[in-house]
Order: sequence, then C-alpha cells, then structure tokens
Amino acid sequence: MGLLVARTRPELQAALDPAREACRRIGLVPTMGALHAGHDALIGRTRTMSDVSVVSIFVNPTQFGADEDFGVYPRSFQADLDRCAAEGVDLVFAPDVATMYPDGAGGVSVEPGPLGGVFEGVTRPTHFRGVLTVVAKLLHLVAPDVAAFGEKDYQQLVLVRQMVNSLQFDVEVLGVPIVRQADGLALSSRNSFLDDEDRRHALMLSRALTAGIDAAPRGVDAVLAAARDVLASAAGAVDYVALTDPYLGEPRLGQEARLLVAARVSTVRLIDNTSLRLGLPAGASSGEVVGP
Ligand code: PAF
Repeated sequence: MGLLVARTRPELQAALDPAREACRRIGLVPTMGALHAGHDALIGRTRTMSDVSVVSIFVNPTQFGADEDFGVYPRSFQADLDRCAAEGVDLVFAPDVATMYPDGAGGVSVEPGPLGGVFEGVTRPTHFRGVLTVVAKLLHLVAPDVAAFGEKDYQQLVLVRQMVNSLQFDVEVLGVPIVRQADGLALSSRNSFLDDEDRRHALMLSRALTAGIDAAPRGVDAVLAAARDVLASAAGAVDYVALTDPYLGEPRLGQEARLLVAARVSTVRLIDNTSLRLGLPAGASSGEVVGP
C-alpha cells in the first residue's frame, strides 16, 4: 500500500476502516511536521508494534502562547510526506484547524492539572492544555493501539501518560529516547531557527546534562550545581534547571531521576533532558531508599 493522505474526518475513517475491520493494530505518531530523524525513531518504534502506521501532521495553534512562534513554526509538508513514504508510513492525517476545532477556540479542552503548571508550564501557562486537548482529539479520531511520543518533550510525555490513565484511553503510550547529533545537540524542529553561532551556544544544554550525569553519584545538589555551572558559563538565558523523579515528583537518592533544562539562545527557546541515577549517601546499602 502506498502512502495515503487524509485531510478530513471522513477521509481518515475511510482510510482506517479496512484496517479496523481486519483487526489490524494501528500505531500513531502525533507530530507538528518539520520531520527529522527524531520522528523517524518514533515511526520506527510504532511500526514494530503495529500493522498500520499513521502519522498526524498538525501545527496545533492552541499550544502556542500569544507571543510564541506559531506563525513562523517550520512547515515543510511535501518533504514530510516524502520522509513518511521513505519510513514506510501508511497514512498521514493532515487536518486543518476547522477539522480539529469545529467549535472554534472556545470549545471544551483538557485541563492538565498541577503538573501542567510547573517547569514548561511556568513560562507557557496554556501550553499543556493545548497539547492535551489536541492529543485527546487525535487519540479519539485515530483510535490507535499504540502512540509514540519523544522523551525530548519529557514533561509532555508524562502528562500524556497521565491523561491516558485519567481519561482511560485504550492506548499504549510509548516513550522514545531523544535522538542527538554527534556533538550532543538534541534534534528539534526548532533547531532550524539557529544560525551557526546560536547552534554552538545551544550545545550548553546537552553539556549541562552531561555535567549533571557526572555529578549524579554525589547527589541532588551536586547535579543541580554542575548543570547550572555549565549554563552560567555559556551565552543564553536559562529558564530552569530541575531534577525530578521519572514522574516529575521529588527525586530520591539511589533511584532513577530526570534532569530537565530549558534556555533561550537568541530568540529560540530550547529544552533538553536526561535520565540519571542518583548516588546513595556514603554508608547506605543499595536496597535502601533514602530521601533527598
Ligand atoms: O510534540 C509535538 O510535536 C506536539 O506537542 C504534539 C504532541 C504533536 C501535539 O501537537
């Protein structure tokens, strides 16, 4: 089967009906287009767990604040279709705003709860409401068996999992590791906004994460200090450096944790994160759980 493109709900349902009737597993990768190797990894992951691979391409206006980059967000539809075809995608769903928001901007939305108001949510207070609302709509329309989200947007991944659990969507959420360039820069559609000098400055994020990993055996304060030191010595305005447990709660010594950073390089706001394992205090045994 070649790549199909559906722009409307009836086209989407017509394309998916044969798969549903044949009880074939559907995999969804929700995207905003400007696809890169990070998206290839998402597609590859869902393809191993489904029979029919669907990619949605929709630059979702409700997840951008009034002063953010919705108008200039990179759009490369034909290149995205070529990439999807090369990756073996079966169906691209590329709706317009009226299809996704039939009742306009004032319709029903998904309230993300307290985790939507921390880290990214401080700088972007309406962001996760927009993300969860559109993801809920996509899950409802495509009804996939599995859906893949990148760990690059780690807070988004945690919130999507929480929504799927709270609203009881019948879908398995796959988190896919970040894809990086050889020098450590995490792939992002927004990297296309960086000129050569910005790009060099942007490496401070992945370097801060590496410093945090190196400091992890020495505990929470050491990780945060190491990451902040790297960021303080680089050009760019730091938004936050945070260390959490994998669910964005308090980190615990001797356990897996997430180090999250956000900074602005020129006009481009970048985020990155890594998992790390926090060390135990001297004298504690590895089976022991010790508070931070
Ligand atoms: O991660 C993204 O590209 C977007 O936030 C998503 C999940 C496609 C929702 O618009």
